[in-house]
Order: sequence, then structure tokens, then C-alpha cells
Amino acid sequence: MFAERVKGLKGSAIREMFKLLAQPDMISFAGGAPAPELFPGELLGEISNKILKENAKVALQYGITEGYAPLRDYTRGRMEKAGNIHGHDDLIITSGGQQALDLTFKTLLNEGDTVVLESPSFIGGMNSLRSYNVHLHGIEMQEDGMDIDALEAYVKTQKIKLVYTIATFQNPSGITMSAEKRKKLLSLADKYDFYILEDNPYGELRYKGEDVPTIKSFDTLGRVIYAGSYSKTISPGLRLGWVIARQDIMEKIVICKQVSDVHTTVLPQMMAAEFFEVYDFDTHIEKAKVLYRERGDEMCTAIDEYFPKACTHTVPEGGIFLWCTLPEGYDSDALLKEAVAQKVAFVAGSTCMPVPEEGARYMRLNYSLTAPDKIREGIQRLGEVIRNAK
Ligand SMILES: Cc1ncc(COP(=O)(O)O)c(C=O)c1O
Repeated sequence: MFAERVKGLKGSAIREMFKLLAQPDMISFAGGAPAPELFPGELLGEISNKILKENAKVALQYGITEGYAPLRDYTRGRMEKAGNIHGHDDLIITSGGQQALDLTFKTLLNEGDTVVLESPSFIGGMNSLRSYNVHLHGIEMQEDGMDIDALEAYVKTQKIKLVYTIATFQNPSGITMSAEKRKKLLSLADKYDFYILEDNPYGELRYKGEDVPTIKSFDTLGRVIYAGSYSKTISPGLRLGWVIARQDIMEKIVICKQVSDVHTTVLPQMMAAEFFEVYDFDTHIEKAKVLYRERGDEMCTAIDEYFPKACTHTVPEGGIFLWCTLPEGYDSDALLKEAVAQKVAFVAGSTCMPVPEEGARYMRLNYSLTAPDKIREGIQRLGEVIRNAK
């Protein structure tokens, strides 16, 4: 009964675990959401009241597909400052970063095309790709991003259409691609004629180390499509993101968006535009950085203290995730069941891999949602589960 494109899709393992994760005393590192204590709830409440009182005729009417003009202008200005918009580019507002990914895939990919992505990668991006019946080729991650030599070797023999990369504070690994690899990736795109989708919802959340320019900032040829999001910096519930692409690509993306949802809901767009008007967004982001630095550092320290020494982990400089590698012979799916029984949770590596069987030795750990003392307690518990599993 089902179409080929949805037959292979599986629900997120995490959503299926929701009931278990809601148990009292559970310490979950399985989430992927921003810290809710950072939400500017009161201010957004006042703003939405004001909009609905004074401007309901706009807020509740159909909007234009490209986005509410003041929000689009603000976002464009911010992206111009970051060097992410070139003369050939356009920007539109999307319903979250997820829609920016999906519309890009819909616009560029034919069934049977090959798409290269990082292994591991983001489950939402992979599932969107899977729904277009494309071939996914994962490239191993190194400390400074995907193995570019492996990519080069692959594209020398295999025609690919697109590289999908989360180059900064990657979900799930927390890894950031070096500037050198970013430039190399772009030069390969030019030489072997493929496009790059740079998915960057965490880029603003650098809490230590040096900024690395986006791939898009080097994109003089129009080969990079850039997906942004306000989910991790304001609120995911507003469902606001954006996409930047060369004008000819954007024309098709806009038509695909019309088909998909006509336009992004107007009220949240107006709320965000007004928020940027009355509040300093950078001050707000600073607060998030302070919180995530404290939590990220605490998680790294606790892992070093409580996990067996043979476990290794990434040390992110921003974002909300780290990636832990278990010694040979472990199975993180089996470990997760035991961990949940001991009231601690994570995302098993299999969920994050283009080829799930390759994920057995890995765990994704999120630190944005848990206070430092609970992070310590949860990591201690998880350390015991790992020791007892062997
Ligand atoms: C790498 C990556 N891309 C895109 C998204 C989608 O974000 P949004 O909530 O803006 O749709 C997420 C959300 O977790 C993500 O981790």
C-alpha cells in the first residue's frame, strides 16, 4: 500500500522511547532541544498580544511565500554581515531549518541520485533524503570534519549530485570542519560539478575557540545552499528558519514551498521581527553560550572521570552535542536498553548513521537540557552501565 519513498522510513527511536524517558528520576541525554529556561516567553507573550491587538489583519491573513518582509530583511542583514550572501544569492524564510533541507532536496534531487553526507549525520536530514529515494554515501568523520581525501577518492569515480554537511558543531558529533577542509570541499564541488548543502543551526552557539568562516562565505560560484534556523537561538516552537541559494535555484525552492505549506505562519514571523526590534539578539545568544559552555564542559569532565578509560569522546567548542566512542565489541543499542532501566538515556549511534549497522560503538550525548549536577550524576550512572556491560 505504501509508496516506495516512505517504505524504508522509520520513526525516530527517541520518539518511541518518550514514555520511558518521562519516568521520574530519568536523566536523559537523548534530547536535541535548546534549554527552555532561555526562552524569552514573557517578552514574546507581550509582543504577540500587541501584534494581535494592533495588527491582526496582517498576522492572521495569508502571507507571502518568501517570508514576512521585516523578518526577511533582518535575517538577510545578519547573514550579509556574516558574509553568507553573495550577489547571486537570495534568502527566504522557511518553517524551521528542517523545511530548508527538505525543499533543497526536493528541488535538486532525482530518484537514484547519489548524495554524500557525513557519517554520522542528522536523523531529520537523512530521513528527508531517504524519502526522495536517493543513494546515501556516508564519509567518515575525523577530528576536523569529514575525511576530505575519502570524498575526493569517491567523487573521482562516482558522479554525485550533492554533499549534505553540518560543518559547525555537528549534530550528532559536535565536530567542526576546519577552514582548510571547507575550501577543499568547495573546490571539489567546482571540479566535479556537485552542490553543497551547508546546514548550520548551531553556528551562532560557539562558546570557546576561534570562529571558522562558513562554507557559504567562500562560495563565489553559487554552489552552496545554506540552511539557517532560529530554533536553537530563540525557540524551536516558533518554527522559523531560512534558506540562502543562488537566485535560479531559489525560484524553484519558492515554488516547492508554495506547494508544501504556502508560507511560514505569519504570527511567529511577526513576533520574531518585533523581538529583534526591541531586544538585543546578540545579548540573548550570549546567555545561551554561557549556559552551554558550563554544561558541555561539565559533561566532558564527568566522562573523563566516570567512563572507562578506553572510551573516547569529542570536545565540542559550541552547540549542544558530543559523540562518544565505546571500545570494540560494544553494542550501543543493547547498552541503551540497560541504561534506560538504570534511568539514564542517550541516542544510540545506529540512529545517526547512514548505514545503521555501523553505529554500534557510538553514543550521542546532549548537554543542553540538563543542569550540571544532574549531568554529573547521569554520566556516573552511564559509566556504571558501560562497565557492567562487559
Ligand atoms: C543539524 C540540524 N539541522 C536542522 C535541524 C532542524 O531544525 P529546525 O527546528 O529549525 O527545523 C536540526 C534540529 O535539531 C538539526 O540538528
